[in-house]
Amino acid sequence: MIINYVYLISVLYLSFFFHLVRSQLHTDQINTMRKIYDMLQNDTATSFVWDGINKSSNPCSWKGISCNSNDNSSITNISFSLFSISSSDFLPVICQINTLESLDISQNHLSSIPSGFITGCGGISGLKLLNFSRNKLEGSLPTFTGFGKLDSLDFSHNKLNGKVDLQLGGLNLLKSLNLSYNNFSGSVPTSLGKFNLLEELQLSAIFSR
Ligand SMILES: *[C@@H]1O[C@H](CO)[C@@H](O)[C@H](O)[C@H]1NC(C)=O
Ligand SMILES: *[C@@H]1O[C@H](CO)[C@@H](O)[C@H](O)[C@H]1NC(C)=O
Ligand SMILES: *[C@@H]1O[C@H](CO)[C@@H](O)[C@H](O)[C@H]1NC(C)=O
Ligand SMILES: *[C@@H]1O[C@H](CO)[C@@H](O)[C@H](O)[C@H]1NC(C)=O
Ligand SMILES: *[C@@H]1O[C@H](CO)[C@@H](O)[C@H](O)[C@H]1NC(C)=O
Ligand SMILES: *[C@@H]1O[C@H](CO)[C@@H](O)[C@H](O)[C@H]1NC(C)=O
Ligand SMILES: *[C@@H]1O[C@H](CO)[C@@H](O)[C@H](O)[C@H]1NC(C)=O
Repeated sequence: MIINYVYLISVLYLSFFFHLVRSQLHTDQINTMRKIYDMLQNDTATSFVWDGINKSSNPCSWKGISCNSNDNSSITNISFSLFSISSSDFLPVICQINTLESLDISQNHLSSIPSGFITGCGGISGLKLLNFSRNKLEGSLPTFTGFGKLDSLDFSHNKLNGKVDLQLGGLNLLKSLNLSYNNFSGSVPTSLGKFNLLEELQLSAIFSR
C-alpha cells in the first residue's frame, strides 16, 4: 500500500516536472533571440522596440515574437514590422529558428536580402509566409530555392528591378503573390502559369513601362 503511494506520488511528481521542462523555449532558440536582441539594441534606430525588456526574459513575451500556443516550446511567428531596421545582418541569424511559420519584415528600410537568408530560411520546412513589403529592396528578385511550404509571398512596395522569370519557379504551394509597386521590366512571366494553386496575384504596377 505504502509502496503504491510512493509510486503514485513519484509518477505525479515526474509528470509535473516533465511538464515544466517541456514548457521551456528551446535553448538554441533562446540563444538565437538573444543574438538578435543584441543586434537590435546595439543600433540606436531600432533599440526602442525591446527597450526595457530584460534580455534574460523569455523571448516568447517580446514584442513581435509568438510561440506555439500549446507549451511555448518553440517560436512560430515573427513580426518585425515597423522596427526601423535598415541592416539586413539579422536575416541569416533569424533563419536558425527552424520552427518558423511566418516572418513579417514589412515596413522597414532594408535595401538587400543576403544570400544567407535564402539558404538558411529556404531549409525551414514549415515556413508559410514571408512579408518584405514596404522596404527599399533594390536589384533583382532573389531566386527562391527550398521554401517548399511557402504559400504567401509579399514583396510589394520596394524598388526591385529586372525580369521576373524563374526566381519563383520552385514555389509549388504558392497561393498568394504580391509583386506590385516595384520597378520590374519585361512581360508577365510565363512561369507564373505554373502556380496551379495561386489564388491571389497582385502584379499591378509591377512593370514600370
Ligand atoms: C553589441 O554591443 C556590445 C557592446 O558594445 C558588443 O560587445 C557586442 O558584440 C555587440 N553585439 C552585436 C550583435 O553587435
Ligand atoms: C533580468 O532578469 C534576470 C533573470 O530573471 C535577473 O536576474 C536580472 O536581475 C534582471 N535584470 C534587470 C536589469 O532587471
Ligand atoms: C506563452 O508565453 C506567453 C508570453 O510570455 C504567455 O502570455 C502565455 O501564457 C504562455 N503560454 C503558455 C501555454 O505557457
Ligand atoms: C502564424 O503564421 C501562420 C502562417 O502564416 C498563421 O496561419 C497563424 O495565424 C500565425 N499565428 C499568429 C499567432 O500570428
Ligand atoms: C505584409 O505587410 C503589410 C504591411 O505591414 C500588410 O499590409 C500586408 O497585408 C502583409 N502581406 C501579407 C501577405 O500578409
Ligand atoms: C499584397 O497582395 C496580397 C494578396 O492579394 C495581400 O494579401 C496583401 O495585403 C498585399 N500587400 C499589401 C502591402 O497591400
Ligand atoms: C526603373 O527602371 C527604369 C529602367 O528599366 C529606370 O530608367 C528607372 O530609373 C527606374 N526607376 C526607379 C525608381 O528606380
